[in-house]
This record gives sequence, C-alpha cells and structure tokens, in this order.
Amino acid sequence: MTKVGLVGWRGMVGSMLLKRMCDEGDFSKISPTYFSTSAVGRTYRDPLGVEHCLRDANSVEQLGEVDIVITCQGGEYTKAIYPVLRASGWGGFWIDAASAKRMDDDSIIVLDPVNRAQIEAGIASGVRNYIGGNCSITLSLVGLTGLFRAGLVEWMSMMTYQAASGAGAPHVKELLGQMSAVGKRVDDSLADPNTPVLDVLTKAHTAARASDYPTEAFGVPLAGSIIPWIDSDLGNGLSREEWKGEVETNKILGLPPRTIRVDGLCVRVAALQSHSAAITLKLKEDCELDRLEALIRDAHEWVDLVPNNKQETIDRLSPAAVGGSLKVGVGRLRRLNVESQVYSVLTTGDQLLWGAAEPLRRVLNIILNAR
Ligand code: HSE
Repeated sequence: MTKVGLVGWRGMVGSMLLKRMCDEGDFSKISPTYFSTSAVGRTYRDPLGVEHCLRDANSVEQLGEVDIVITCQGGEYTKAIYPVLRASGWGGFWIDAASAKRMDDDSIIVLDPVNRAQIEAGIASGVRNYIGGNCSITLSLVGLTGLFRAGLVEWMSMMTYQAASGAGAPHVKELLGQMSAVGKRVDDSLADPNTPVLDVLTKAHTAARASDYPTEAFGVPLAGSIIPWIDSDLGNGLSREEWKGEVETNKILGLPPRTIRVDGLCVRVAALQSHSAAITLKLKEDCELDRLEALIRDAHEWVDLVPNNKQETIDRLSPAAVGGSLKVGVGRLRRLNVESQVYSVLTTGDQLLWGAAEPLRRVLNIILNAR
C-alpha cells in the first residue's frame, strides 16, 4: 500500500481535502500517516475511526518514510522543509496546496480536467512535484476548458469577486463576525417596519466603525464592502494575485509564457466560499454562441452552463448557488458590443473544492494509478 503523509490537514483546505478523500473512498487505496507541527506524539482518530500517533512534520527522517507527501500547511512550511527533504535524497511525490513551488520548472500545476495529459506525461518522465493552482485561475479554467482546448482564446481580462475563504479560515470567521456585529446593531430597527432606512444604514455604518468591530484579519471592513487588493503589492500597480493570472494560466495549459495574455483586477467580496470572475474574452475568430456553448458545456462533467437569461442566472450562477458543489457555473455568455470577437462570460465555483482541495486528491489518484 502506498504510504501517504498528510501535513496541514487540520486547516480549512486540509479539512476539505480529508472530507473529499473520505467521500470518494481514497483512504482505501493508501496507508496514511498524519503529520503535525504542533501536536507531535498525540493520538488522532481519523475520519474512519482509526487511531494514529501524530508524527513530526518538521522531521525530514519521518517525512522521508512516506512515498507521497500532501501538504496544505502553507508556503512558509514548503520553503522550509521541501529543499531539505529533497537534499536528504527523498524521491517521493510532493503534492502541495501552497503557491511556493507553483512556478518552479520542476513542478506541474495540477488541474486534471484541463491538463491531465501534462500530469500523466510528467509522472512518466519523472516530475515529482504537483502543485495546486491559484483558486481564481483554476475555477475559471475548469469552467472554460472547452474554449482553451479549441485554441480559441487570444486574451482574457478577469475581474474577480473572491470569497473570504481564499484568504484563510480566520478571514471567514472575521467576515461572519462583522456580519453578526452589524446585525446585532440593526436588529431592533429592522423589527420595527416603520424605521426609516437611512436610520438603519446609519446604525450599520456606526457598527462598522466601532472600536471593537473585528478587522484583525482583513485589516478593514469587508461586510457591506469590498477590498480591491488581494495578496502583496508588486509595486507596479499590480497585485500578486493579478500577476498569477497570466503566468499560471499559460503554465497550466502547457503554453510558453505570455502565449495567452491575461490581466484584470482581483477584488475580495463578502462571499463566503465561492469565487466568481467576470471575464472578457478576445477570441481568435468570430464564433456563433451555439458553438461556444457546446464547447463549454461538453468539455467535462463539472460545468453547469447557465443560459443567459435573468431567472436562470440569478437562480444558478452565484456563490450562494454553487457553494458546496463540484459544478462550476458558467454563464452571462454573450458577444460584447465594443468590438468583434470579444465576448463576456462569468464563472463561479467553490473555492475550497476545485479552487483548492479537489485537484490535490485527484492528482493523488492519478499518481496512485500510475504506480
Ligand atoms: N489567493 C486566493 C485568494 C486563494 O486570496 O482568494 C487561493 O488561490
């Protein structure tokens, strides 16, 4: 049985990964070892009821005993442990949710509905590092695979609406805490239908300015607002999140850098766990919408192509509708009036599933099948 070491499995992405691995029966194919950075030696009862002694995630010797490491521990852990583990001679597979190794030449960004052939060729040729991609990129590529496969996309501009979950567990809790603080402040006013709405809004704004309003994680209010900057400031007007769009898209598609130009603005919104992106696509040729719809819908089983009408769009194409589902919603597809060959489309999908955990458990299965 293949020995698989799990690191960072208690966090938000890690917990989702374990849940999905249980749901899909992955644990019947592996012998798991649970690693920890903080509770080494303690006993852990896994989701199947089996007890494990937690091993040391900072021990190269202990990590070196497994065939595959899957880590959701974060980039700092990867940077600290990965080079030492490889230097010790370990030749196993490293599967990682963090971005630290994504753009390295010895890594493949995993998104098998889009690049399964690249993953299989990588395994056959000895690539040992398989890294999850940026969630906004992966969700949009899963949704639009058919257009990329047909070689139709010349460039795309992505305007993202990213959920709190992409920032981390404390951020999700903080957003809910902000919502709760505002709710408590306006509850009495809402109970009285005669309260003027401007009074309710004043109370909501006052709540968000109170000294005990929770903003430690985001630094600013998000409930009732947006944060139009995600990740670090590259100093050239671009956020690191925006920079990832082009480099990761081309790498996932197996194309030379800048083959498909990608740019846009990344914005944090008060959604909980699903990212959306309003995308402007410049295609290489003018296409009938029927053809584009067929390419998108028939690419694979995880696309829910939503017809471009109001009722189906508001019912099916939103974070609220897709949260918890493996389907990526794709809709608002139409020709834009500004120029020929330019189209709009909106994608939305669960950030913790296709945006984080799902590509990792699926590449684990691809590796297991190849062994
Ligand atoms: N960087 C993403 C975000 C999450 O902040 O939403 C993971 O790709």
